Amino acid sequence: MENSMTNAANDVNTISVKDLTLEEKASLTSGGDAWHFQKIDRLGVPGYMLTDGPHGLRKENSETAALDMANTVPATCFPPAAGMSSTWNPDLVREVGKAMGEECVQEKVAVILGPGVNIKRNPLGGRSFEYWSEDPYLAGHEAVGIVEGVQSQGVGTSLKHFAANNQETDRLRINARITERTLREIYLPAFEHIVKTAQPWTVMCAYNRLNGVFGSENRWLLTDVLRNEWGFKGIVMSDWGAVHDRAAALNAGLNLEMPPSYTDDEVVIAVKNGAISEEQIDMMAQGMLELTAKAEEAMSREGFVFDVDEHHRVARRAAQESIVLLKNEDKLLPFAPNAHVAVIGEFARTPRYQGGGSSHINPTKMTTILDELDERGSHYTFAPGFTLDNSLQDAALTQEALEAAKSADVVLFCMGLPEAEESEGFDRTHLDMPAKQLELLSYVAKVNSNVAVALSNGSAVQMNPWQDDAKAVLETWLLGQAGGSAVVDVVFGDANPSGKLAQSFPLDIKDDPSMVNWPGGEQTVDYGEGVFVGYRYYDTFDVDVAYPFGFGLSYSTFDILDVKVEATSDTTALVHAMVKNTSSVDGAQVVQVYVNPADTTPVQRPVHELKGFKKVFLKAGELAEVEIGLDSRAFAYWSEKSNNWRVVKGTYGVEVATSSRDIVSRETIALEGDHYYAPLNEWSNYGEFKADLFGAKAVEHMIELGRAGELPAIPEDNLGVQMFLESMPVNSMAVLFGKDGKKLTQFLLEDYAAERANG
Ligand code: BGC
Repeated sequence: MENSMTNAANDVNTISVKDLTLEEKASLTSGGDAWHFQKIDRLGVPGYMLTDGPHGLRKENSETAALDMANTVPATCFPPAAGMSSTWNPDLVREVGKAMGEECVQEKVAVILGPGVNIKRNPLGGRSFEYWSEDPYLAGHEAVGIVEGVQSQGVGTSLKHFAANNQETDRLRINARITERTLREIYLPAFEHIVKTAQPWTVMCAYNRLNGVFGSENRWLLTDVLRNEWGFKGIVMSDWGAVHDRAAALNAGLNLEMPPSYTDDEVVIAVKNGAISEEQIDMMAQGMLELTAKAEEAMSREGFVFDVDEHHRVARRAAQESIVLLKNEDKLLPFAPNAHVAVIGEFARTPRYQGGGSSHINPTKMTTILDELDERGSHYTFAPGFTLDNSLQDAALTQEALEAAKSADVVLFCMGLPEAEESEGFDRTHLDMPAKQLELLSYVAKVNSNVAVALSNGSAVQMNPWQDDAKAVLETWLLGQAGGSAVVDVVFGDANPSGKLAQSFPLDIKDDPSMVNWPGGEQTVDYGEGVFVGYRYYDTFDVDVAYPFGFGLSYSTFDILDVKVEATSDTTALVHAMVKNTSSVDGAQVVQVYVNPADTTPVQRPVHELKGFKKVFLKAGELAEVEIGLDSRAFAYWSEKSNNWRVVKGTYGVEVATSSRDIVSRETIALEGDHYYAPLNEWSNYGEFKADLFGAKAVEHMIELGRAGELPAIPEDNLGVQMFLESMPVNSMAVLFGKDGKKLTQFLLEDYAAERANG
């Protein structure tokens, strides 16, 4: 059978791993070159293309070159995740994904490498602009739209970088040491949600080590958790160059090495000598065949051409909703349509619209702020104000900017981080804005007090004290190719800002909880802050921030009324609220739901965590009802003791809010919990026995028998004894009660076992 097939008769859908020789199976587990799967001519298995992402298509013209950043086909440059994450609009993200999928079909790309959903552990992280949030719920529930949208077009995505790629410093080797609870609650849920709800065709492993094991060799991650627990059906590929041992990677569950290290012959030997089992190589190769079969239909479509203008329009809408209005004193924004605007700052002419590195897209079009103002025929005077390099400030540029500011009604000051300051490959070392831009801003504010700043940056920056020089601040992030139009749309009120921050802006980077262990050393970084990342730390420990997570203003005003929270089962709830646009301007509000831990929580938990949100678009004066369901994960913590999620019985708080610091209403609900009681043993303490359903009965029986004289009596009124007893493992009761203590220990354990056995 094996060698009898010819390519003419084959349909990829019908080829199975059984039709392949060992050499062919091995060949499927590495790329054909840097951007293709390996083909098998004999069987007609095509070597489809896969390429970067994640906020547009980066397809190199040369097809095979490993890295040819400058020479890529034009594709729509949508806002990078730094911007898109502020939309809080999964439907819009899905539209962007769909458009990206269409571009893949045209360009015959079977898999686009993204989205990247690693947590922004620290705003200095070099790829913050490519990642979605400091919050795993938000990251997962937004980025899932990219996967759904792209895959609706019959092409695949690659959810990356699995897992814990949260810094660029030493990213190829760093060993991230993270407790399981922290992983489960913070660093894995975005992956988990997307895998469970959208089945990305592929997942890309991370370069780094996690608790000592490289991402590419981590069987716990790639097989136990991803496939067995979450039900992942696709293939796992390596990040570029992340495989160091083919056999270890294949055994861990990594199907595809990218780019190839041309060591397939070693894989064959490893199977022959038993280092890789037949079953495992079959499974890994079968995954590759299935992936190819899934892509076949879209890859066979001839002559499909995407609509460049329509995709530019999608990019513009995405950019509009990405913009966050941070401040708007005296309602300076929006500017009157006929205002004379001094547009100051090189960014208005040379926009910063994406980050550096493997995600660099070659846009189909580009509209700068100046282009859009020209298009509209707006009355403006432009002065570049500063250069984007490190040269000292040019006095002539300052002078020109001041002249422009003096003669205008209002100033749009376009400032930000130059490209060289933010990229894949290195972390930032500070949050400061370039000094010459800040100095110019302070001079401009002295000659014209009506300054609105438009900020371009991929992650949080230091906001104080410079923001005192601006009446209005728009966080415009990196907005992709239609960003210039989107900024002008917002500045003149043709679009109403509705973005909300997906990351906290600290007052000072020293306030960030991860700084004690950032970025680590000697190839190791400890995630010592645990689950207290971003607002989870700031809000729990009342640390002031410049702008909180979830924050963003609007030209509209809103009321949130009639909040009701009801338990819908022992571990779930439903939140109802009415939202009213109380202004004369159409706009959108994001209703955010945070959950406070139970009063009975057995572990330290953040004061609140985002567990639901809904963006509501409301015409002027409109009222709408919002319902947000809270599933059991909304209340659960990861119990290391039980090795599972647990919802304890208790009273939980449910907050409806417009940012993590703007809580509109706080309700409490009592939940019965999951009725799970981890087994107790002799090392469980007396307090734990009392808190356990069965243990409490054993304690009660012991006390009753003590009163009846059938067991040694516990001195119930002796507070000192009670205090000692509470935290004492039950095997130590002899310390307090001598020989009698042994009897008590034995009784407790036996009675508990009997109660538990009876259910
Ligand atoms: C990056 C990935 C990217 C790959 C291919 C790697 O260095 O970490 O995100 O998809 O290169 O360009």
